[in-house]
Amino acid sequence: MLRMIICVSLVIFGRELAAADLPAAQPFGTTQTGDNVEVYTLRNDAGLVARIMTRGATLVELQVPDANGVSDDVILGFDDVAGYESSDNAYFGCTTGRVCNRIANGTFALNGHRYELAINNGPNHLHGGTENSLDKVIWNAEPFVSGDGRGIVFQYSSPDGEEGYPGTLNVTVTYTVTNQSNDLKIDYAATTDKATPVNLTNHAYFNLSGAGASTVLNHVLLLNADLYTPVDDTLIPTGSVETVVDTPLDFRQPQVIGNRIEELIGTATLGYDHNFVLNASNPGELNTAAVLTDPESGRRLHIRTTEPAVQFYSGNFLNGQKGKGNRTYALRSALCLETQHYPDSVNQPKFPNTVLEPGQRFQSSTVLEFSIAP
Ligand code: BGC
Repeated sequence: MLRMIICVSLVIFGRELAAADLPAAQPFGTTQTGDNVEVYTLRNDAGLVARIMTRGATLVELQVPDANGVSDDVILGFDDVAGYESSDNAYFGCTTGRVCNRIANGTFALNGHRYELAINNGPNHLHGGTENSLDKVIWNAEPFVSGDGRGIVFQYSSPDGEEGYPGTLNVTVTYTVTNQSNDLKIDYAATTDKATPVNLTNHAYFNLSGAGASTVLNHVLLLNADLYTPVDDTLIPTGSVETVVDTPLDFRQPQVIGNRIEELIGTATLGYDHNFVLNASNPGELNTAAVLTDPESGRRLHIRTTEPAVQFYSGNFLNGQKGKGNRTYALRSALCLETQHYPDSVNQPKFPNTVLEPGQRFQSSTVLEFSIAP
């Protein structure tokens, strides 16, 4: 079937793609439990190089040229599987789920049943659990070529009850690069055999000056959001949705990240760690979530998503851990822009629904587009 799709694509687009163009798997190491981990490399003609491993369908490297054409790796991560399995790993580059962000007190009720999840963040459940959350399991990988694009479909079947969640969840995450635009596209899909909450994101930590550079406080950020969801002391949304106007969360016009971050130091978030509600001009279509610019390198990242929100997290818990190439990841040396549904949605009836029903198909897309700032 895959071969047929490839052949048809070749005829339609007339490019000289061949089986040899299929991204090949390379060994990345072995987990503590003896599973082999592989890594795939995707490239386009504009110099974008993305490496993704089968543990957690994790983006381990993202090379992007700067204004002078010099490439650097703009995301945090580790050189080996042991690094990713260590306590230094703050979800670097992973696929996050089954439910990203927090679920209050690690519990929710659905169809008359109460479900209990791991409590792994203060009194709450964070990023899908502790042992077999989507960032920690080994995914199947299927490379493909289509038109002038190349990609990998990562697939994982999470059994009923895994990490306390109901239903067998069949998830795919597809990473694609093409020569049509200088971007990495991430498509998520999921089906279930029992009603279950689903909220998927990628947890890449960006520093557009290159991973390991001092801080991202000089980066300039635009967020396409008039509203955000305030949180309590344990970072659970209070349920209200409020304006960003007259707060340090107003990024409707591009703002230097460091300019107002100090105003948040004394708050529960210790910096930026907020869910921004996106102004969606076309709900369900790709809308701008964020535009991040690094004045030093000239690199610009434009994030579009079909998701209704984005978590802007300014790396407030980075603590000087050593990452790729023995570089130090200091406090605020990277930031995350996690496209998502609102945190704790399963317990918040007023928030957009995150419960996937049998017979439905969850689908969502996020595009990371790189350019040079004018
Ligand atoms: C959360 C932060 C958390 C970080 C690393 C982010 O998605 O919003 O509060 O510290 O992930 O786990």
